[in-house]
Amino acid sequence: MSFHRLGSVAAAEAWCAARRDEGKSVGFVPTMGALHDGHLTLVERSVRECDVTVVSVFVNPLQFDDPADLERYPRDEDADARALEEAGCDLMFTGTLPEFFPGSLDEQGSIEPGALISPGPAAEGLEGASRSGHFTGVATIVHRLFEVVNPSRAYFGRKDYQQSLIVREVAASRGGPQITVCPTVRTEAGLARSSRNERLSEAEREDALVLSSALASVDALWRAGERDAEVLARALASALESAPGVRLDYAAVRDAERWTGADPSGPMESCVALVAAQVGPVRLIDNLVLGEGDVCEIATRAGSRT
Ligand code: PAJ
Repeated sequence: MSFHRLGSVAAAEAWCAARRDEGKSVGFVPTMGALHDGHLTLVERSVRECDVTVVSVFVNPLQFDDPADLERYPRDEDADARALEEAGCDLMFTGTLPEFFPGSLDEQGSIEPGALISPGPAAEGLEGASRSGHFTGVATIVHRLFEVVNPSRAYFGRKDYQQSLIVREVAASRGGPQITVCPTVRTEAGLARSSRNERLSEAEREDALVLSSALASVDALWRAGERDAEVLARALASALESAPGVRLDYAAVRDAERWTGADPSGPMESCVALVAAQVGPVRLIDNLVLGEGDVCEIATRAGSRT
């Protein structure tokens, strides 16, 4: 199938319905554009696993708590279209808030409270605490995107760990799609790829490497047998607190399977370490499931920096 680009939600909905009527499996990758290798691995996975692959590019205002952040969010739809065509995507579509939520916006263009989707308990703590309303905005648009595309599978990145728990809940609440969470793609030096990295200077990119190296050092502790939640969280925080150019927002551990808003204490059975920090003009997040495969790579990269 050749690459299609549609600038209308209704047209995209009809296109997807037609593919399903043909009996095709539809894979879906929701994005906010400014695409990089992290996004493209999700697209490539969908291309391998599904008959057709659909990508949405929509900078969703509902999930930004800071209007300046929304304003500055990078946008380059033509470059996105070229990258998606090359990756084997079949449909890229964009839309506007009124198109996604006809009849649910008030005169100021704000969404009516009744149209919002609750993000559930996984929104408690960390990103949910730092960014008011963020996960309600994510759950609301993801739910709507699932309605528009009605995919059999949808692909998300582990880079946004807490988000991946929320979209699983959204999918479960409506009986689909099947959610696949893909590993975090990093630069060679270990920095998690993010559209926001575009706004970092060279020196700030260097400073930002401490996020992944701090995660790697806690992973080393875990591999050496440390299981105490407080010890792990403290080690993570102390690796970041004194780092130059980095203002720590949170450094925390959670059970990788059972999310809680509160910091755990005592021995952990499975563990994800999560960080958020301001570096220069950008707020960055990263995480690592301790003891898992992709970690060794970061540890080597972080260790080879000096
Ligand atoms: P966005 O930040 O554009 O990310 C789109 C998808 O790409 C998300 O599932 C995200 O986790 C994944 N992703 C981003 N960077 C990644 C990396 N370095 N490695 C692997 N995957 C990565 O997340 C959103 O948009 C929005 O919240 C959205 C789900 C589209 C709802 O508006």
